[in-house]
Amino acid sequence: MNVVILAAGMGKRMQSALPKVLHPLAGKPLLQHVIDTARELSPSKLCVIYGHGGAAVPKMIEAQNNGEHAAIDTALQEPQLGTGHAVMQALPQLDDSVPTLILYGDVPLTTADSLRRLVLAAGSDKLGILTVEQSNPFGLGRMVREHGEIVRIVEEKDATDEERKIREINSGIMVAPTRRLKEWLSSLSNNNAQGEYYLTDIVAKAVAEHMTVVSAQPAAEWEVAGVNSKVQLAELERRHQGKLAHALLEQGVTLMDPARIDIRGTLTCGRDVTIDVGCVFEGTVVLADGVTVGAHSVLVNSNVGAGVQIKPFCHIDGAQVGPQSQIGPYARLRPGAELGQDVHIGNFVEVKNSTIAAHSKANHLAYVGDATVGARVNIGAGTITCNYDGVNKFRTVIEDDCFIGSDTQLVAPVTVGAGATLGAGTTLTKNAPAGKLTISRARQVTVDHWQRPVKIKK
Ligand code: UD1
Ligand code: CA
Repeated sequence: MNVVILAAGMGKRMQSALPKVLHPLAGKPLLQHVIDTARELSPSKLCVIYGHGGAAVPKMIEAQNNGEHAAIDTALQEPQLGTGHAVMQALPQLDDSVPTLILYGDVPLTTADSLRRLVLAAGSDKLGILTVEQSNPFGLGRMVREHGEIVRIVEEKDATDEERKIREINSGIMVAPTRRLKEWLSSLSNNNAQGEYYLTDIVAKAVAEHMTVVSAQPAAEWEVAGVNSKVQLAELERRHQGKLAHALLEQGVTLMDPARIDIRGTLTCGRDVTIDVGCVFEGTVVLADGVTVGAHSVLVNSNVGAGVQIKPFCHIDGAQVGPQSQIGPYARLRPGAELGQDVHIGNFVEVKNSTIAAHSKANHLAYVGDATVGARVNIGAGTITCNYDGVNKFRTVIEDDCFIGSDTQLVAPVTVGAGATLGAGTTLTKNAPAGKLTISRARQVTVDHWQRPVKIKK
Protein backbone atom coordinates (compact mmCIF):
# COMPACT_ATOMS: atom_id res chain seq x y z
CA MET A 1 0.00 0.00 0.00
CA ASN A 2 1.03 3.60 -0.66
CA VAL A 3 0.33 6.21 2.01
CA VAL A 4 0.17 9.90 1.16
CA ILE A 5 0.01 12.38 4.05
CA LEU A 6 -1.25 15.86 3.19
CA ALA A 7 0.56 18.48 5.21
CA ALA A 8 0.82 21.53 3.00
CA GLY A 9 -1.99 23.62 4.43
CA MET A 10 -0.87 26.75 6.18
CA GLY A 11 -2.82 26.60 9.42
CA LYS A 12 -3.43 30.32 9.68
CA ARG A 13 -5.69 29.87 12.71
CA MET A 14 -2.84 28.47 14.80
CA GLN A 15 -1.46 32.06 14.89
CA SER A 16 2.07 30.70 14.88
CA ALA A 17 5.31 30.81 12.91
CA LEU A 18 5.59 27.03 13.31
CA PRO A 19 3.89 25.00 10.54
CA LYS A 20 0.65 23.56 11.89
CA VAL A 21 1.65 19.91 11.50
CA LEU A 22 4.74 20.46 13.68
CA HIS A 23 2.78 21.62 16.71
CA PRO A 24 3.10 18.98 19.44
CA LEU A 25 0.36 16.82 20.85
CA ALA A 26 1.48 14.72 23.81
CA GLY A 27 4.98 16.05 23.18
CA LYS A 28 5.12 14.80 19.59
CA PRO A 29 4.45 16.75 16.37
CA LEU A 30 0.98 16.17 14.89
CA LEU A 31 2.59 14.91 11.69
CA GLN A 32 4.69 12.42 13.66
CA HIS A 33 1.54 10.89 15.12
CA VAL A 34 0.25 10.36 11.59
CA ILE A 35 3.58 8.95 10.36
CA ASP A 36 3.76 6.55 13.32
CA THR A 37 0.20 5.33 12.68
CA ALA A 38 0.91 4.95 8.95
CA ARG A 39 3.97 2.85 9.76
CA GLU A 40 1.82 0.43 11.74
CA LEU A 41 0.24 -0.42 8.39
CA SER A 42 3.67 -1.21 6.86
CA PRO A 43 3.19 0.83 3.68
CA SER A 44 5.55 0.15 0.79
CA LYS A 45 5.64 3.90 0.01
CA LEU A 46 5.10 6.79 2.39
CA CYS A 47 5.00 10.29 0.97
CA VAL A 48 4.43 13.56 2.82
CA ILE A 49 3.17 16.59 0.88
CA TYR A 50 4.47 19.78 2.41
CA GLY A 51 4.27 23.42 1.49
CA HIS A 52 3.70 26.08 4.06
CA GLY A 53 6.55 26.59 6.51
CA GLY A 54 9.29 25.87 3.99
CA ALA A 55 12.12 23.65 5.13
CA ALA A 56 10.84 22.78 8.61
CA VAL A 57 8.70 19.82 7.54
CA PRO A 58 11.22 18.12 5.18
CA LYS A 59 13.90 18.75 7.81
CA MET A 60 11.87 16.92 10.44
CA ILE A 61 11.38 14.02 8.03
CA GLU A 62 15.02 13.98 6.94
CA ALA A 63 15.98 13.52 10.58
CA GLN A 64 14.18 10.18 10.72
CA ASN A 65 15.26 8.79 7.36
CA ASN A 66 18.03 6.98 9.18
CA GLY A 67 17.56 3.44 7.98
CA GLU A 68 15.51 2.14 10.87
CA HIS A 69 12.31 2.39 8.79
CA ALA A 70 11.67 2.60 5.06
CA ALA A 71 12.54 6.13 3.98
CA ILE A 72 9.77 8.70 3.73
CA ASP A 73 9.49 10.67 0.49
CA THR A 74 8.44 14.28 0.43
CA ALA A 75 6.89 16.40 -2.31
CA LEU A 76 6.44 20.14 -2.33
CA GLN A 77 3.02 21.55 -3.14
CA GLU A 78 3.47 25.18 -4.16
CA PRO A 79 1.07 26.93 -4.54
CA GLN A 80 -1.61 25.08 -2.59
CA LEU A 81 -4.58 24.66 -4.89
CA GLY A 82 -6.63 22.17 -2.88
CA THR A 83 -6.58 18.63 -1.55
CA GLY A 84 -6.83 17.04 -5.03
CA HIS A 85 -3.91 19.15 -6.22
CA ALA A 86 -1.96 18.11 -3.11
CA VAL A 87 -2.35 14.38 -3.84
CA MET A 88 -1.29 15.04 -7.48
CA GLN A 89 2.16 16.06 -6.22
CA ALA A 90 2.73 12.54 -4.88
CA LEU A 91 1.60 10.67 -7.99
CA PRO A 92 5.02 10.12 -9.65
CA GLN A 93 6.22 8.36 -6.47
CA LEU A 94 3.30 5.95 -6.05
CA ASP A 95 3.32 2.26 -6.89
CA ASP A 96 0.45 1.62 -9.35
CA SER A 97 -0.03 -1.98 -8.33
CA VAL A 98 -1.21 -1.31 -4.77
CA PRO A 99 -3.92 1.01 -3.36
CA THR A 100 -3.17 4.47 -2.03
CA LEU A 101 -4.34 5.61 1.41
CA ILE A 102 -4.63 9.37 1.93
CA LEU A 103 -4.10 10.74 5.43
CA TYR A 104 -3.85 14.26 6.86
CA GLY A 105 -0.94 15.66 8.83
CA ASP A 106 -3.31 17.62 11.03
CA VAL A 107 -5.54 14.65 11.97
CA PRO A 108 -3.35 13.03 14.61
CA LEU A 109 -5.44 10.50 16.50
CA THR A 110 -6.81 8.08 13.94
CA THR A 111 -6.07 4.55 15.11
CA ALA A 112 -4.36 1.99 12.91
CA ASP A 113 -7.33 -0.30 13.61
CA SER A 114 -9.81 2.10 12.03
CA LEU A 115 -7.56 2.53 9.01
CA ARG A 116 -7.14 -1.22 8.66
CA ARG A 117 -10.92 -1.63 8.59
CA LEU A 118 -11.19 0.99 5.85
CA VAL A 119 -8.40 -0.57 3.79
CA LEU A 120 -9.91 -4.03 4.19
CA ALA A 121 -13.37 -2.82 3.13
CA ALA A 122 -11.96 -1.18 -0.01
CA GLY A 123 -9.76 -4.07 -1.08
CA SER A 124 -7.88 -3.40 -4.30
CA ASP A 125 -10.79 -2.43 -6.56
CA LYS A 126 -13.05 -0.13 -4.54
CA LEU A 127 -12.90 3.45 -3.33
CA GLY A 128 -13.10 3.59 0.47
CA ILE A 129 -13.90 6.63 2.61
CA LEU A 130 -13.72 7.01 6.37
CA THR A 131 -16.93 8.79 7.34
CA VAL A 132 -18.60 9.71 10.60
CA GLU A 133 -22.03 10.96 11.76
CA GLN A 134 -21.65 14.33 13.43
CA SER A 135 -24.22 16.29 15.40
CA ASN A 136 -22.64 19.48 14.09
CA PRO A 137 -21.27 18.82 10.59
CA PHE A 138 -20.83 22.54 9.80
CA GLY A 139 -17.93 23.31 7.47
CA LEU A 140 -17.26 19.72 6.46
CA GLY A 141 -17.86 17.78 3.23
CA ARG A 142 -21.18 15.85 3.33
CA MET A 143 -21.66 12.30 2.10
CA VAL A 144 -24.47 12.31 -0.46
CA ARG A 145 -26.10 8.88 -0.70
CA GLU A 146 -28.79 7.55 -3.05
CA HIS A 147 -30.55 4.34 -2.04
CA GLY A 148 -27.94 4.01 0.66
CA GLU A 149 -25.02 4.14 -1.76
CA ILE A 150 -22.46 6.96 -1.71
CA VAL A 151 -22.73 8.97 -4.93
CA ARG A 152 -20.64 12.06 -4.23
CA ILE A 153 -19.26 14.40 -1.60
CA VAL A 154 -20.39 18.00 -1.47
CA GLU A 155 -18.44 20.71 0.34
CA GLU A 156 -20.26 23.01 2.78
CA LYS A 157 -19.69 26.01 0.52
CA ASP A 158 -21.09 24.23 -2.54
CA ALA A 159 -23.98 22.46 -0.82
CA THR A 160 -27.70 23.15 -1.08
CA ASP A 161 -29.72 23.76 2.10
CA GLU A 162 -31.00 20.20 1.82
CA GLU A 163 -27.47 18.77 1.51
CA ARG A 164 -26.29 20.80 4.49
CA LYS A 165 -28.72 18.81 6.65
CA ILE A 166 -26.73 15.62 5.99
CA ARG A 167 -24.87 14.64 9.13
CA GLU A 168 -22.57 12.00 7.69
CA ILE A 169 -19.32 13.80 6.93
CA ASN A 170 -16.21 13.06 4.93
CA SER A 171 -13.23 12.70 7.26
CA GLY A 172 -11.01 13.27 4.23
CA ILE A 173 -9.31 9.91 4.78
CA MET A 174 -9.69 7.75 1.68
CA VAL A 175 -8.19 4.74 0.00
CA ALA A 176 -8.28 4.28 -3.77
CA PRO A 177 -6.88 1.99 -6.47
CA THR A 178 -3.81 3.94 -7.53
CA ARG A 179 -4.07 3.68 -11.33
CA ARG A 180 -7.65 4.95 -11.24
CA LEU A 181 -6.73 7.67 -8.75
CA LYS A 182 -4.15 8.97 -11.22
CA GLU A 183 -6.72 9.11 -14.02
CA TRP A 184 -9.34 10.85 -11.89
CA LEU A 185 -6.92 13.44 -10.56
CA SER A 186 -5.69 14.34 -14.03
CA SER A 187 -9.25 15.26 -15.01
CA LEU A 188 -10.18 17.34 -11.91
CA SER A 189 -11.47 20.86 -12.39
CA ASN A 190 -11.52 23.75 -9.96
CA ASN A 191 -14.92 24.95 -10.97
CA ASN A 192 -16.37 25.34 -7.45
CA ALA A 193 -17.03 27.89 -4.72
CA GLN A 194 -13.40 27.86 -3.51
CA GLY A 195 -11.69 27.60 -6.91
CA GLU A 196 -9.77 24.56 -5.60
CA TYR A 197 -9.03 21.13 -7.00
CA TYR A 198 -11.10 19.02 -4.63
CA LEU A 199 -9.94 15.49 -3.88
CA THR A 200 -13.55 14.77 -2.97
CA ASP A 201 -14.58 15.11 -6.64
CA ILE A 202 -13.03 11.71 -7.34
CA VAL A 203 -16.03 10.12 -5.64
CA ALA A 204 -18.50 11.18 -8.35
CA LYS A 205 -15.96 10.08 -10.97
CA ALA A 206 -15.69 6.62 -9.41
CA VAL A 207 -19.47 6.34 -9.28
CA ALA A 208 -19.74 7.41 -12.96
CA GLU A 209 -17.37 4.55 -13.80
CA HIS A 210 -19.51 2.13 -11.76
CA MET A 211 -16.83 1.60 -9.19
CA THR A 212 -18.18 0.61 -5.78
CA VAL A 213 -17.66 3.26 -3.10
CA VAL A 214 -17.56 1.91 0.45
CA SER A 215 -17.26 3.58 3.81
CA ALA A 216 -15.91 2.63 7.19
CA GLN A 217 -16.43 4.40 10.52
CA PRO A 218 -13.81 5.05 13.19
CA ALA A 219 -14.38 3.75 16.72
CA ALA A 220 -14.71 7.32 18.02
CA GLU A 221 -15.54 10.68 16.44
CA TRP A 222 -12.34 12.36 17.63
CA GLU A 223 -10.24 9.88 15.64
CA VAL A 224 -10.96 11.97 12.56
CA ALA A 225 -10.89 15.39 14.25
CA GLY A 226 -8.45 17.78 12.65
CA VAL A 227 -6.48 20.55 14.32
CA ASN A 228 -7.05 24.02 12.94
CA SER A 229 -6.61 26.12 16.06
CA LYS A 230 -5.03 26.02 19.49
CA VAL A 231 -8.50 25.42 20.90
CA GLN A 232 -8.88 22.23 18.86
CA LEU A 233 -5.32 21.21 19.66
CA ALA A 234 -6.00 21.58 23.39
CA GLU A 235 -9.23 19.58 23.08
CA LEU A 236 -7.50 16.70 21.31
CA GLU A 237 -4.64 16.79 23.82
CA ARG A 238 -7.14 16.29 26.68
CA ARG A 239 -8.91 13.47 24.79
CA HIS A 240 -5.62 11.73 24.14
CA GLN A 241 -4.41 12.17 27.71
CA GLY A 242 -7.75 10.88 28.96
CA LYS A 243 -7.29 7.76 26.89
CA LEU A 244 -3.73 7.21 28.19
CA ALA A 245 -4.88 7.75 31.78
CA HIS A 246 -7.74 5.32 31.31
CA ALA A 247 -5.35 2.66 30.04
CA LEU A 248 -3.19 3.11 33.16
CA LEU A 249 -6.23 2.77 35.44
CA GLU A 250 -7.30 -0.38 33.60
CA GLN A 251 -3.88 -1.76 34.24
CA GLY A 252 -4.15 -1.13 37.99
CA VAL A 253 -2.25 2.13 38.40
CA THR A 254 -3.79 4.49 40.96
CA LEU A 255 -4.18 7.99 39.57
CA MET A 256 -5.41 10.43 42.19
CA ASP A 257 -7.14 12.26 39.32
CA PRO A 258 -7.03 10.80 35.79
CA ALA A 259 -7.79 14.28 34.43
CA ARG A 260 -4.58 15.66 35.92
CA ILE A 261 -1.74 13.65 34.40
CA ASP A 262 0.24 14.31 31.22
CA ILE A 263 2.16 11.63 29.38
CA ARG A 264 4.37 12.86 26.56
CA GLY A 265 6.05 9.63 25.62
CA THR A 266 5.86 6.14 27.09
CA LEU A 267 5.12 5.52 30.75
CA THR A 268 5.46 1.91 31.91
CA CYS A 269 4.22 1.06 35.38
CA GLY A 270 4.54 -2.02 37.57
CA ARG A 271 1.94 -3.12 40.12
CA ASP A 272 0.62 -0.85 42.84
CA VAL A 273 1.99 2.36 41.45
CA THR A 274 0.33 5.56 42.70
CA ILE A 275 0.60 8.88 40.92
CA ASP A 276 -0.66 12.06 42.52
CA VAL A 277 -2.06 15.02 40.59
CA GLY A 278 -0.21 17.31 38.22
CA CYS A 279 2.62 14.97 37.19
CA VAL A 280 4.23 15.11 33.75
CA PHE A 281 6.04 12.16 32.15
CA GLU A 282 8.24 12.73 29.10
CA GLY A 283 10.22 10.37 26.89
CA THR A 284 10.55 6.84 28.25
CA VAL A 285 9.79 6.51 31.95
CA VAL A 286 9.60 3.23 33.85
CA LEU A 287 8.12 3.04 37.36
CA ALA A 288 8.64 -0.35 39.02
CA ASP A 289 6.25 -2.00 41.48
CA GLY A 290 5.03 0.04 44.42
CA VAL A 291 6.40 3.41 43.31
CA THR A 292 4.57 6.50 44.50
CA VAL A 293 4.98 9.79 42.69
CA GLY A 294 4.04 12.90 44.65
CA ALA A 295 2.07 15.80 43.24
CA HIS A 296 3.50 18.07 40.57
CA SER A 297 6.58 16.04 39.74
CA VAL A 298 8.14 15.94 36.27
CA LEU A 299 9.87 12.72 35.19
CA VAL A 300 11.84 12.53 31.95
CA ASN A 301 13.60 9.46 30.48
CA SER A 302 14.14 7.84 33.85
CA ASN A 303 13.96 4.48 35.57
CA VAL A 304 12.53 4.33 39.05
CA GLY A 305 13.06 1.17 41.13
CA ALA A 306 10.57 -0.77 43.21
CA GLY A 307 9.11 0.89 46.29
CA VAL A 308 10.62 4.30 45.58
CA GLN A 309 8.81 7.27 47.07
CA ILE A 310 9.01 10.44 45.07
CA LYS A 311 7.64 13.26 47.15
CA PRO A 312 5.96 16.34 45.62
CA PHE A 313 7.65 18.84 43.29
CA CYS A 314 10.56 16.78 41.99
CA HIS A 315 12.26 17.13 38.60
CA ILE A 316 13.87 13.87 37.52
CA ASP A 317 15.57 13.77 34.11
CA GLY A 318 17.78 11.03 32.73
CA ALA A 319 18.15 9.35 36.11
CA GLN A 320 18.18 5.83 37.55
CA VAL A 321 16.70 5.59 40.99
CA GLY A 322 17.45 2.45 42.99
CA PRO A 323 14.73 0.54 44.83
CA GLN A 324 13.34 1.82 48.13
CA SER A 325 14.91 5.24 47.63
CA GLN A 326 13.25 8.45 48.80
CA ILE A 327 13.38 11.51 46.62
CA GLY A 328 12.23 15.03 47.43
CA PRO A 329 10.22 17.01 48.06
CA TYR A 330 11.81 19.57 45.73
CA ALA A 331 14.66 17.39 44.50
CA ARG A 332 16.34 17.59 41.13
CA LEU A 333 17.98 14.59 39.49
CA ARG A 334 19.75 15.44 36.25
CA PRO A 335 21.11 13.22 33.46
CA GLY A 336 23.58 10.62 34.67
CA ALA A 337 22.27 10.53 38.24
CA GLU A 338 22.44 6.86 39.26
CA LEU A 339 21.21 6.11 42.71
CA GLY A 340 21.58 2.73 44.42
CA GLN A 341 19.17 1.11 46.83
CA ASP A 342 17.61 3.10 49.66
CA VAL A 343 19.25 6.40 48.79
CA HIS A 344 17.67 9.53 50.26
CA ILE A 345 17.76 12.73 48.25
CA GLY A 346 15.94 15.49 50.07
CA ASN A 347 14.73 19.02 49.46
CA PHE A 348 16.75 21.33 47.25
CA VAL A 349 19.36 18.71 46.44
CA GLU A 350 20.64 18.54 42.86
CA VAL A 351 22.44 15.45 41.57
CA LYS A 352 24.09 15.38 38.14
CA ASN A 353 26.26 12.77 36.40
CA SER A 354 26.95 11.05 39.70
CA THR A 355 26.58 7.61 41.19
CA ILE A 356 25.43 7.36 44.76
CA ALA A 357 25.61 3.88 46.29
CA ALA A 358 23.19 2.16 48.64
CA HIS A 359 21.92 3.76 51.87
CA SER A 360 23.60 7.11 51.27
CA LYS A 361 21.80 10.33 52.09
CA ALA A 362 21.86 13.95 50.99
CA ASN A 363 18.83 15.29 52.71
CA HIS A 364 19.02 19.04 52.32
CA LEU A 365 20.40 21.78 50.09
CA ALA A 366 23.33 20.18 48.27
CA TYR A 367 24.91 19.96 44.82
CA VAL A 368 26.42 16.62 43.88
CA GLY A 369 27.88 16.87 40.36
CA ASP A 370 30.38 14.58 38.61
CA ALA A 371 30.81 12.59 41.79
CA THR A 372 31.22 8.95 42.75
CA VAL A 373 29.69 8.48 46.17
CA GLY A 374 30.03 5.20 48.05
CA ALA A 375 27.59 3.41 50.32
CA ARG A 376 26.26 4.69 53.68
CA VAL A 377 27.65 8.19 53.10
CA ASN A 378 25.99 11.14 54.77
CA ILE A 379 26.22 14.39 52.86
CA GLY A 380 25.38 17.32 55.12
CA ALA A 381 23.25 20.32 54.27
CA GLY A 382 24.87 22.91 52.05
CA THR A 383 27.55 20.57 50.67
CA ILE A 384 28.79 21.46 47.20
CA THR A 385 31.02 19.59 44.79
CA CYS A 386 33.00 22.32 43.03
CA ASN A 387 33.28 20.38 39.79
CA TYR A 388 33.82 23.18 37.30
CA ASP A 389 36.62 25.69 36.93
CA GLY A 390 34.89 27.60 34.17
CA VAL A 391 36.40 25.40 31.47
CA ASN A 392 36.91 21.85 32.69
CA LYS A 393 34.89 19.49 34.82
CA PHE A 394 36.49 17.28 37.47
CA ARG A 395 35.32 14.36 39.58
CA THR A 396 34.84 14.09 43.28
CA VAL A 397 35.15 10.66 44.87
CA ILE A 398 33.62 10.02 48.29
CA GLU A 399 34.26 6.48 49.45
CA ASP A 400 32.01 4.30 51.62
CA ASP A 401 30.92 5.36 55.13
CA CYS A 402 32.07 8.97 54.90
CA PHE A 403 30.42 11.76 56.84
CA ILE A 404 30.53 15.08 55.04
CA GLY A 405 29.82 17.94 57.47
CA SER A 406 27.43 20.68 56.53
CA ASP A 407 28.46 23.51 54.24
CA THR A 408 31.49 21.68 52.86
CA GLN A 409 33.00 22.49 49.49
CA LEU A 410 34.79 19.65 47.74
CA VAL A 411 37.07 21.25 45.16
CA ALA A 412 37.45 18.57 42.49
CA PRO A 413 39.41 16.60 41.56
CA VAL A 414 39.45 15.33 45.12
CA THR A 415 38.94 12.06 46.99
CA VAL A 416 37.58 11.47 50.46
CA GLY A 417 38.85 8.12 51.77
CA ALA A 418 36.53 5.49 53.22
CA GLY A 419 35.12 6.29 56.64
CA ALA A 420 36.53 9.83 56.67
CA THR A 421 34.74 12.68 58.37
CA LEU A 422 34.88 16.24 57.07
CA GLY A 423 34.15 18.93 59.61
CA ALA A 424 31.39 21.38 58.87
CA GLY A 425 32.46 24.30 56.70
CA THR A 426 35.49 22.53 55.23
CA THR A 427 36.84 23.67 51.90
CA LEU A 428 38.55 20.50 50.75
CA THR A 429 41.27 21.11 48.18
CA LYS A 430 43.41 18.04 48.90
CA ASN A 431 42.43 14.40 49.35
CA ALA A 432 41.09 13.53 52.81
CA PRO A 433 42.61 10.36 54.28
CA ALA A 434 40.40 7.43 55.16
CA GLY A 435 39.02 7.06 58.67
CA LYS A 436 40.15 10.49 59.91
CA LEU A 437 38.62 13.85 60.66
CA THR A 438 39.70 16.49 58.19
CA ILE A 439 38.66 20.05 58.73
CA SER A 440 39.60 23.38 57.23
CA ARG A 441 38.11 26.11 59.26
CA ALA A 442 39.49 29.28 60.81
CA ARG A 443 39.69 28.83 64.56
CA GLN A 444 36.86 30.43 66.47
CA VAL A 445 37.83 33.46 68.55
CA THR A 446 35.86 35.67 70.84
CA VAL A 447 36.96 39.32 70.97
CA ASP A 448 36.70 40.75 74.43
CA HIS A 449 35.81 44.40 74.93
CA TRP A 450 34.50 44.69 71.40
CA GLN A 451 31.60 47.05 71.00
CA ARG A 452 29.10 47.48 68.28
CA PRO A 453 29.22 50.88 66.60
CA VAL A 454 26.42 53.11 67.86
CA LYS A 455 24.51 55.66 65.83
CA ILE A 456 25.10 59.19 67.06
CA LYS A 457 21.90 61.24 67.05
CA LYS A 458 22.34 64.57 65.27
C1 UD1 B 1 -11.48 18.66 3.38
C2 UD1 B 1 -12.49 17.93 2.52
C3 UD1 B 1 -13.82 17.82 3.27
C4 UD1 B 1 -13.62 17.13 4.59
C5 UD1 B 1 -12.54 17.86 5.40
C6 UD1 B 1 -12.22 17.09 6.63
C7 UD1 B 1 -11.84 18.49 0.26
C8 UD1 B 1 -12.15 19.32 -0.93
N1 UD1 B 1 -12.64 18.67 1.32
O1 UD1 B 1 -11.99 19.97 3.66
O2 UD1 B 1 -14.76 17.11 2.48
O3 UD1 B 1 -14.83 17.10 5.32
O4 UD1 B 1 -11.34 17.96 4.60
O5 UD1 B 1 -11.40 17.86 7.45
O6 UD1 B 1 -10.94 17.70 0.23
N2 UD1 B 1 -4.10 20.50 2.16
C9 UD1 B 1 -2.96 20.48 1.40
N3 UD1 B 1 -2.91 21.22 0.27
C10 UD1 B 1 -3.95 21.97 -0.14
C11 UD1 B 1 -5.12 21.97 0.63
C12 UD1 B 1 -5.16 21.23 1.79
O7 UD1 B 1 -1.98 19.83 1.75
O8 UD1 B 1 -3.82 22.61 -1.20
C13 UD1 B 1 -4.15 19.69 3.38
C14 UD1 B 1 -4.26 20.54 4.64
O9 UD1 B 1 -2.97 20.78 5.18
C15 UD1 B 1 -5.09 19.67 5.55
C16 UD1 B 1 -5.95 18.85 4.61
O10 UD1 B 1 -5.32 18.92 3.34
O11 UD1 B 1 -4.28 18.79 6.28
C17 UD1 B 1 -7.38 19.30 4.53
O12 UD1 B 1 -7.44 20.64 4.12
P1 UD1 B 1 -8.50 21.64 4.73
O13 UD1 B 1 -8.45 22.90 3.97
O14 UD1 B 1 -8.38 21.67 6.20
O15 UD1 B 1 -9.85 20.84 4.46
P2 UD1 B 1 -11.05 21.28 3.57
O16 UD1 B 1 -10.59 21.49 2.18
O17 UD1 B 1 -11.73 22.37 4.25
CA1 CA C 1 -9.68 24.15 2.07
